[in-house]
Amino acid sequence: MSLVPVSTLLQEAQAGGYAVGAFNCNNMEIVQAIAAAAEAEKAPVIMQASQGAIKYAGIEYITAMANVAAAMVSVPVALHLDHGTSFEQVMRCIRSGFSSVMIDGSKHSLKDNIALTRRVVEVARAVGVSVEAELGKIGGTEDDIHVNAADAFFTDPEEARVFVRETEVDALAIAIGTAHGRYKGEPKLDFARLEKIRSLVNIPIVLHGSSGVPEEAVREAIRLGVCKVNIDTNIREAFVDRCREVIDEYPDEIDPRKILGPAREAAVELIREKIRIFGSSGKA
Ligand code: G3H
Ligand code: 13P
Ligand code: ZN
Repeated sequence: MSLVPVSTLLQEAQAGGYAVGAFNCNNMEIVQAIAAAAEAEKAPVIMQASQGAIKYAGIEYITAMANVAAAMVSVPVALHLDHGTSFEQVMRCIRSGFSSVMIDGSKHSLKDNIALTRRVVEVARAVGVSVEAELGKIGGTEDDIHVNAADAFFTDPEEARVFVRETEVDALAIAIGTAHGRYKGEPKLDFARLEKIRSLVNIPIVLHGSSGVPEEAVREAIRLGVCKVNIDTNIREAFVDRCREVIDEYPDEIDPRKILGPAREAAVELIREKIRIFGSSGKA
């Protein structure tokens, strides 16, 4: 299959009461792991690349790998730009073949975030690419956006209503207490806020910083309307932990395949587990 827009997958998820996993990738093994996990679970899946991942792997490699992965599996696959911060970056991804983009204007004022997002929506819509935007600040470190946990602030439901109406964006990332990277304590999600946002906003809602969020909290967020769940850190942990284990066990190993192969397997298992939690298993 060729790459599909994220909006197509999320509309079905919203109607079906489940969430599609959006997994960050930056190398071939992780792309292969995402594809293999989705195929094994018969689940639609989103591969996403951050600006950092694009810088690391090269936009041509990312696009080519995702296209090959999509062609080799029977389930729908989307390729999404994660936390794009500029109009130009978003355009480069669209031109390169991404089927979906995120424009993260959350560091701007509401007015400027609306203007930037609207500009992206107008262009993306014309070429069949879907757009995710962000309102409120998610804790942690993102490309070009550094937010201290203390400074992070949650999405205002009324602002969300206005934002979606003005931008006509396809999906909205919200801040309800999650953070990117590893949590120091257990994250506490503001479910009442999520419910309020859901009552005012009818488009698919996206949960970022979902690694390390307790399984029950993720399920509850999905029950309350989250349709896309972003996972990066947990994949990195599974992948690198396995690399370390192999290197510790076989310190003389010099064949990268003997290290990266098991790491890829560990990533497949982790992603399959997430897909099952999100309820998208068997939904392809
Ligand atoms: O949301 C952030 C993602 O985890 C991407 O992280 O910028 O290190 O690639 P990165
Ligand atoms: P985690 O790294 O916390 O899973 O966050 C991923 C994310 O939100 C990517 O946009
Ligand atoms: Zn994110």
